[in-house]
Amino acid sequence: MSARIIDGVALAKAIREEVAAEAAKLAAKGMRPGLAVVLIGEDPASKAYVGSKEKACIEAGMHSVKIARPATASEAEVLEIVDQLNADRAVHGILVQLPLPKHINTEKVLNRVDPAKDVDGFHPQNVGKLVIGDPTALRPCTPYGVQQMLIRSGIETRGAHAVVVGRSTIVGKPMANLLIQTGPGGDATVTVCHSKTRDLPGVCRTADILIAAIGKAEFVTRDFVKPGAVIIDVGINRVDDASKPRGYRLTGDVAYAECAEIASAITPVPGGVGPMTIAMLMQNTLQAMRQAVR
Ligand code: GUN
Repeated sequence: MSARIIDGVALAKAIREEVAAEAAKLAAKGMRPGLAVVLIGEDPASKAYVGSKEKACIEAGMHSVKIARPATASEAEVLEIVDQLNADRAVHGILVQLPLPKHINTEKVLNRVDPAKDVDGFHPQNVGKLVIGDPTALRPCTPYGVQQMLIRSGIETRGAHAVVVGRSTIVGKPMANLLIQTGPGGDATVTVCHSKTRDLPGVCRTADILIAAIGKAEFVTRDFVKPGAVIIDVGINRVDDASKPRGYRLTGDVAYAECAEIASAITPVPGGVGPMTIAMLMQNTLQAMRQAVR
């Protein structure tokens, strides 16, 4: 079998167009969704992500605010920025780009973001809402994007066994919570695996839907995959490659070529989950605005 490739670029484009159309309707009523991104430090990957988020915002016809400070910024300064954005009526969504410099308490900063503007879905109030199935929850963008990929690709989650590899706060835990909710993209039977899981390949081989979010390049090999399974690769890893102009290539958590031979569908890296994350950030900003004006 050769797997169908799930095209994250095309799916993300469709979502961004839907968001842009919605934003245009709101603009006609004098309302404009606004997203603020806070970048502390000069990490090149973070700078690139923030640039993509700004561009997506502008393309969607949204108001975009970028606040950048050097890595030497104090925790008090960052908290002050968050307070100002919380009070800014033109800003409906706030995203503090992670990781923050080590001298800043990440939890303290994330908890300071007004839950109504928490488009990352990291605030305990949104985490709680997600767990209890409250539809007003702002959902973490990456797992929300994965769920949209499954829905929009016609992959049935209801009754399926979904195995999530990785238990991070940003991906693994919210992913599992989304998949066990009732309704489209939910109703799955979910297993969450991690570094202490016994017989990890064996557990993964029971998955109808295998979601890899471990952060280890090509960790999932063919012996983790049941023939016909759907594979979603959340990983983005840099691997040294002297043949590339930049000296590295990007690869996922899944050994793509060998797994694509036995899966029924698979997401590539790049061009899979990555673009969905930004699309869902736009979607969340729109949701935050709708809920704010209600
Ligand atoms: N850094 C890497 N992924 C993310 C994310 O989803 N949100 C934020 N704020 N920072 C990140």
